[in-house]
Amino acid sequence: MDSINIALDGPAAAGKSTIARQVASKLSMIYVDTGAMYRALTYKYLQHHRPEDFQELVDQTTLELTYDSSKGQRIILDNEDVTDFLRENDVTQNVSYVASKAPVRTFAVEKQKDLAAKKGIVMDGRDIGTVVLPDADLKIYMIASVEERAERRQKENEKRGIPSTLSQLKKEIEDRDQYDMNREISPLRKAKDAISIDTTSKTIEEVTKEIMALVKNL
Ligand code: C5P
Repeated sequence: MDSINIALDGPAAAGKSTIARQVASKLSMIYVDTGAMYRALTYKYLQHHRPEDFQELVDQTTLELTYDSSKGQRIILDNEDVTDFLRENDVTQNVSYVASKAPVRTFAVEKQKDLAAKKGIVMDGRDIGTVVLPDADLKIYMIASVEERAERRQKENEKRGIPSTLSQLKKEIEDRDQYDMNREISPLRKAKDAISIDTTSKTIEEVTKEIMALVKNL
């Protein structure tokens, strides 16, 4: 399916990236994880001791997305593959702050629009259906209970060897959602024409099937 774009938004850890990856693979489309772009800029912000001039920060940044057949999307920041550092706790704790800044959003959104210009993209994030791809052929807004989201993230962290506790994850997810929903520029919001899917107690296969059925009906 290289003639459509799919936008997938929702709060933190709602299963967006797992599902988006599955859908993209089934449809031979390219999956773009936009959160990773904000995480890469946050990684740089932390490495540079938290400079407050975000325009200067993005002006001095090159960011590329590449695709590895076994590892999937890789993020190349200033010619270095930083993908493996982007899930670390200090990046997660600061990403909503960095992503709220106008120069950061302009920089990332421009790249995202370019990536989607040729179609054939499944893109997940917070503002894809509202700002980045307002004309996407299918828009999904994915939600799940905070308890379920914390449990899923805990399992992911265990696999990646990132230390965390359930109560800490629940708080971090709630805080990040509050920040993302209440920021001034492009807050997390369901697009009017997005279809909501509550993934609580649904399997990855069930949700993927639901989306594949929606794609068939386009
Ligand atoms: O999707 P992920 O949890 O990796 O996103 C990390 C953070 O990046 C979000 O909490 C949000 O602050 C920001 N983000 C955003 N817009 C997007 C994708 C992510 O502001 N399209």
